[in-house]
Amino acid sequence: MRVLVITGAGVSAESGIPTFRGKDGYWRNLDPAKLATPTAFQNDPKLVWEWYRERRERIRKSEPNPAHQAIVKLAAYAREFLLVTQNVDDLHARAEWEGNTLAREKIVQIHGDIFITRCSYCDLSSRNERDKEVGGLPRCPECDGLMRPGVVWFGEQLPLGEIQRVENFLDENACDFALVIGTTATFGYIIDWALRAIASNGELVEVNPEETSLSRFATHLIRERAAVALPRLVDQIFAQPPKL
Ligand code: OAD
Repeated sequence: MRVLVITGAGVSAESGIPTFRGKDGYWRNLDPAKLATPTAFQNDPKLVWEWYRERRERIRKSEPNPAHQAIVKLAAYAREFLLVTQNVDDLHARAEWEGNTLAREKIVQIHGDIFITRCSYCDLSSRNERDKEVGGLPRCPECDGLMRPGVVWFGEQLPLGEIQRVENFLDENACDFALVIGTTATFGYIIDWALRAIASNGELVEVNPEETSLSRFATHLIRERAAVALPRLVDQIFAQPPKL
């Protein structure tokens, strides 16, 4: 069985990580959409770093939830599997099911990784902030440039290598299932990838308590929280492949 899974902030909601557009998304009354931008970083790097550092701390203190674990189980059973996550947290990578975790080559973080710190100018990047901190701002040990979180900001190019990994997976063969979990599907490429995955009569399943711009394309709508619905859905998929 070939499965594509696409996740958004909703899959981490039950681990206590706020979504972007949900009611708990704001930080100090600031809209994430206004903080996660190159302009915001240019204008006030200290404020943007404070936001990312708080998010890193919150993620470090959180645990993967049953939705993350069900996705590991799905990957263990599926013959071919790829997870494309818009989330910059490491909950998918930390999730375990019966001692299994998701191999890195099965995870695409299309919006980057919040635990990466990289130079705004040269290509130096690291997984921690041991770089020189000047006035609370990490500086590049190579070129002294201002370091930034290794995430994609609004208006920035998606990592080409990660896009290529998704395209390669989709070009290889059609999927039996595309599960789209916990995302408003705000970005067209998310809908495009989901539709391409099920091109030859696969099943497109949306798991989200609310309607999204992907809903009208889905063959199955599961209007429940991911941590509740996914363990059941994964068992259903393997109890009676390929129809739900
Ligand atoms: P959003 O905040 O836009 O959407 C979260 C989605 O999760 C909504 O559709 C909710 O209904 C749903 N949701 C909430 N709780 C849920 C739960 N327990 N189970 C299942 N679904 C639940 O977050 P994303 O769609 O991930 O990009 O946002 C996509 C991108 O927009 C983010 O990666 C970020 C943002 O700008 C960048 O930063 C580049």
